Amino acid sequence: MKTKGDILILGIESSCDDTSAAVIKNDNILANVTAGQEVHKIYGGVVPELASRAHQKHIVPVVHSALQLAGISTHDLDAIAYTKGPGLLGSLLVGSSFAKSMAQALNIPAIPVHHMKAHVLAHFIDSNEKKPPFPFINLTVSGGHTQILKVSSAFDFELMGETLDDAAGEAFDKAAKMMGLSYPGGPEIDRLAQNGNNLKFTFTKPRVDGLNFSFSGLKTGFKNLLDRESRKNPDFIKENLYDLCASIQHTIVEILIENLISAANQSQITHVAIAGGVSANSYLRRRLRETETTHGFKTYIPPFEYCTDNGAMIAIAGYFEYLKNKSLRPLTDSATARWQME
Ligand code: KG4
Ligand code: ZN
Repeated sequence: MKTKGDILILGIESSCDDTSAAVIKNDNILANVTAGQEVHKIYGGVVPELASRAHQKHIVPVVHSALQLAGISTHDLDAIAYTKGPGLLGSLLVGSSFAKSMAQALNIPAIPVHHMKAHVLAHFIDSNEKKPPFPFINLTVSGGHTQILKVSSAFDFELMGETLDDAAGEAFDKAAKMMGLSYPGGPEIDRLAQNGNNLKFTFTKPRVDGLNFSFSGLKTGFKNLLDRESRKNPDFIKENLYDLCASIQHTIVEILIENLISAANQSQITHVAIAGGVSANSYLRRRLRETETTHGFKTYIPPFEYCTDNGAMIAIAGYFEYLKNKSLRPLTDSATARWQME
């Protein structure tokens, strides 16, 4: 029920292959509905044109059921937040056009949200998880981005390091594809690695300046190992699947954790967090938690369901924006495939 002073925001996410809508009352999620897209599975990755068409099919039922589950009517909404970018342009256009039209019809603000900032702001959704105090260091790891940020407020993000080529999620997905696992490969590797030996196979770690990352050399190293060993034994992948998953996961996570620790040490900030799809990875979560004892850090992970793409993170980002500025936004603001953190 909406009482005086409550702010109700609808958040719409459509940057990649999940159509998601959430309703937030202040910082409390009332509903979060996501429709995934099975259509990409057989291609081993997201096909942009198919993604936009699936968003068109899903967006009305997804928004409708989010409103229904939240038990509110469109007229209770104070604003509609949507992902403006970065992401697949066709997919972004579906969500942003829908959000702007709906906001115009209701005469409420349509709030553009930066997808990567929203991943970080998922920490502030009301839940049982601890919320990081400002400033904190955040490692944001998704299918398209890998960034280390110093976060000084809900509006102040300083990029300290990022990937120079593939993203961490992409490294998981590509390694999985090479082993014949289905897309998205990250969760599959996570699951299979539980029974494997982290140290069975070792890979050369990339040498990159500062706090940046590179995963393309690792991808090549992994492919070379599979090719070389499969020539000797055609069943190599099948016979070593658990160890291959555990070893590649271990290498990716160690690269991430090392830079995260360096960023925290350099900036002398002991509050350290992760966010984004890859923060659902059980080994990364464990390694982050271990830094509490090894380095004296305080660590933070968003609630599990808000790690991978979701409307709730767009809604909380919209909530912060709305608190700052309640006025209508220009509807000429357009979806952007590439959008710097600035
Ligand atoms: O943030 P996200 O849902 O979408 C983007 O913004 O890209 O991240 C998706 C990425 C995919 O690469 C997926 O394989 C990865 O997150 N991912 C995982 C796990 N769950 C999702 N990677 C490793 N372990 C997981 N458990
Ligand atoms: Zn994402």
